[in-house]
Amino acid sequence: MTTATSTVTPVMQGRNLVKTFGRVVGLDGADLDLFPGEVLAVVGDNGAGKSTLIKCFSGAHVPDSGEMTLNGNKITFRSTHEARGAGVETVFQTLAVSPALDIASNLYLGREVRKGGFMGTVFRTLDKKRMRQESAQHLKDLGISTLQNITQAVETLSGGQRQAVAVARCAAFGSQVIILDEPTAALGVNESARVLKMIQDLRDRGLSVILISHNMPQVFEVADRIHVARLGKRAAVVNPQSHSMNDVVAIMTGAMTVPVEEQQLTPVR
Ligand SMILES: Nc1ncnc2c1ncn2[C@@H]1O[C@H](COP(=O)(O)OP(=O)(O)OP(=O)(O)O)[C@@H](O)[C@H]1O
Ligand SMILES: [Mg+2]
Repeated sequence: MTTATSTVTPVMQGRNLVKTFGRVVGLDGADLDLFPGEVLAVVGDNGAGKSTLIKCFSGAHVPDSGEMTLNGNKITFRSTHEARGAGVETVFQTLAVSPALDIASNLYLGREVRKGGFMGTVFRTLDKKRMRQESAQHLKDLGISTLQNITQAVETLSGGQRQAVAVARCAAFGSQVIILDEPTAALGVNESARVLKMIQDLRDRGLSVILISHNMPQVFEVADRIHVARLGKRAAVVNPQSHSMNDVVAIMTGAMTVPVEEQQLTPVR
């Protein structure tokens, strides 16, 4: 472990981010560093500001103050659409899928493929056949086999299958950063394992992943580094070798503090 500032440019960085909701303080000067090709777990108690933090980077919230960068360049995302355009895909804690649409339409929500020629440009006709074919391929690439029919409406899917659609959408379109806010909270053992495998595959493809989770064994299984949020701030960043699950829980509750020179503020891989 080292205290030296990293020479690697973070894919994503946040400094001193503040976000308030009326009198409620969501973020109180939070920092974030996400390095290329790593899985960063973000953990913390309920209300610690985890979702608020990632929403700033996914364009769902605009911070009141503080700085955010993507590959060293300052960013101000005013919408989730803008963040997606920059290669940042998010599966929100409250799933943003459209229940009445089918799986293929959900995968392509907001980035629909139009038919070529006159029908596409004038009538904006959707190329459903192509979207269905490509969706089936994306799901196959991701090893999602529990979805049998790509034309099935998402409202008829199980909670776990819906989550799989949301994660598949992220994995299919995220080109830089994938943010997953509690992706396994509603999943069974097998489905969780599949999502964890997907996270490792995304990292192997060179993407950076932020995983928010309350599930310590899962965090310790896949994370390269663990960012602990507390009271709207980053309390510490540790790695799964240097600190135990009990340590991480102690940092979450404020029972333990980690001197900055003992933190894992630089990439491990
Ligand atoms: N839209 C909002 N309006 C008002 N208060 C909010 C809003 N979003 C978040 N907050 C508040 O900001 C604080 C941080 O919330 P946040 O959702 O970021 O916590 P979290 O760490 O994701 O918690 P959990 O583990 O329960 O998901 C909480 O006190 C919460 O009530
Ligand atoms: Mg949350």
